[in-house]
Amino acid sequence: MKLFKNKADDGAKEKKHYLSGKEIRAIAKENNKVMRRLEKYKRRKAPEAEFTTEMKDPANILEVDDLHSYFFTDQGVVKAVNGVSFNVPQGATVGIVGESGCGKSVTSMSVMRLLQGPQGQIVEGNIRFKSLDYKLEGGKPIPIWENDENGEPIYDEVKDKKGEVKRDKDGEPLLERRQKRDEYGTKLYEMEEKVFDIAKMPTKEMHRLRGRQIAMIFQEPMTSLNPVFTIGNQLDEVTLLHVPGATKEEAKKRSIEMLNLVGIAMPERVYKSYPHELSGGMRQRVMIAMALEGDPRLIIADEPTTALDVTIQAQILDLLRGLKNRINGSILLITHDLGVIAEMADYVVVMYAGRIIEKGTASEIFHDPRHPYTIGLQKSKPTMDKNSDSLFNIPGNVPNPVNMPNYCYFRERCSGCKEKCYGDYPEMVQVSPTHWVACHLYAPDEDAKENADEY
Ligand SMILES: Nc1ncnc2c1ncn2[C@@H]1O[C@H](COP(=O)(O)OP(=O)(O)OP(=O)(O)O)[C@@H](O)[C@H]1O
Ligand code: SF4
Ligand SMILES: [Mg+2]
Repeated sequence: MKLFKNKADDGAKEKKHYLSGKEIRAIAKENNKVMRRLEKYKRRKAPEAEFTTEMKDPANILEVDDLHSYFFTDQGVVKAVNGVSFNVPQGATVGIVGESGCGKSVTSMSVMRLLQGPQGQIVEGNIRFKSLDYKLEGGKPIPIWENDENGEPIYDEVKDKKGEVKRDKDGEPLLERRQKRDEYGTKLYEMEEKVFDIAKMPTKEMHRLRGRQIAMIFQEPMTSLNPVFTIGNQLDEVTLLHVPGATKEEAKKRSIEMLNLVGIAMPERVYKSYPHELSGGMRQRVMIAMALEGDPRLIIADEPTTALDVTIQAQILDLLRGLKNRINGSILLITHDLGVIAEMADYVVVMYAGRIIEKGTASEIFHDPRHPYTIGLQKSKPTMDKNSDSLFNIPGNVPNPVNMPNYCYFRERCSGCKEKCYGDYPEMVQVSPTHWVACHLYAPDEDAKENADEY
């Protein structure tokens, strides 16, 4: 899917450090045109068939395919995510690592379709997500009924708010058929699996996924919780919004259960508290409880432990791990902390300046890193057994995001640089069935193999 072509972006611009008024106006004009078109595309009404698709591999829950997410700024187009592809298998934890500004959050915000428009836009690529949604009949979800041992329906008396039995005009009690409920008392409906391309979904349709099927946990929970509502209010809202026919009492019961599940000692009290009355660790637990309210298939955790101290960090990671197993969900874990990745992830994606430069299983990335940047990252980890006064650092900076070169972005910082590195940006090369690297040292020719061995 190609949604965008920016003429101002084609061809190399003069490499100077300022833009003339004329250039700024030309950029703004071109940007406005593209932004308007993309915003219109997001607002369009589209039949479901237009954004329904198939997974390439049915074992995956998320497939990000050649994703390009750009910011249209007055200085030019920032290609924050520039052709990123990776998969999240069902039940697995995939970690995204990379230094500040490499596009980790923009990738996760693209999956949630939360990029700040009109400047931030997905301009190309596919984001396939295997959703489990309510099966509809005549536009309504189909309840799963409870039957007795003979397969006969069970009926209950309908009660009002005070607990009194409601009666019809003849004085007979009103009856309703009993619906199956989950372990927290939430009503159950028939579900069906469908694959949606999030990149093509009209924004209005995203409520079907956001918060319920894909939940997000942010770095600083205080900025994600609303300071003027109680925790209970904010938790209940998830159930009231997403479960058809849920009552306030049912929502409260579920919220208290979720607070219990995330290890909050006095859930009733926390339920009535405001966010500022809780500690950072408690707020992060509340965020996780909120993420769990909707029974998500995928949890995106963007630096979930960065704002917490080490002991609380370990507790939160334990909690996330336990919950993932409980709901057989998947986690996309974003962090710059290699320790967190080593502890949690099954697969690791390493990003650099908006691109993936290496991906593989956690063991491949930690024990057999191939890209000079990943090797540098590993070397820069502090260890107790090394007898050294200073930490290893990778010299140099990331290139200017507005004018990315067409050769390897890491070249200016790379000590293994070869003649070939002065050519085109390197292709992804497969070095094992699960391990990929974008570096000329591993190009599939004999020369490269020798170079890689030397390196
Ligand atoms: N609203 C915006 N306008 C312009 N550029 C932006 C905007 N938001 C992000 N960017 C750019 O997108 C790039 C990627 O940002 P992103 O937030 O994804 O980084 P990150 O990898 O999450 O970093 P960190 O580890 O610091 O959170 C950066 O170069 C940033 O400058
Ligand atoms: S392609 Fe060349 S410059 Fe880039 S990381 Fe590999 S060796 Fe270094
Ligand atoms: Mg970030």
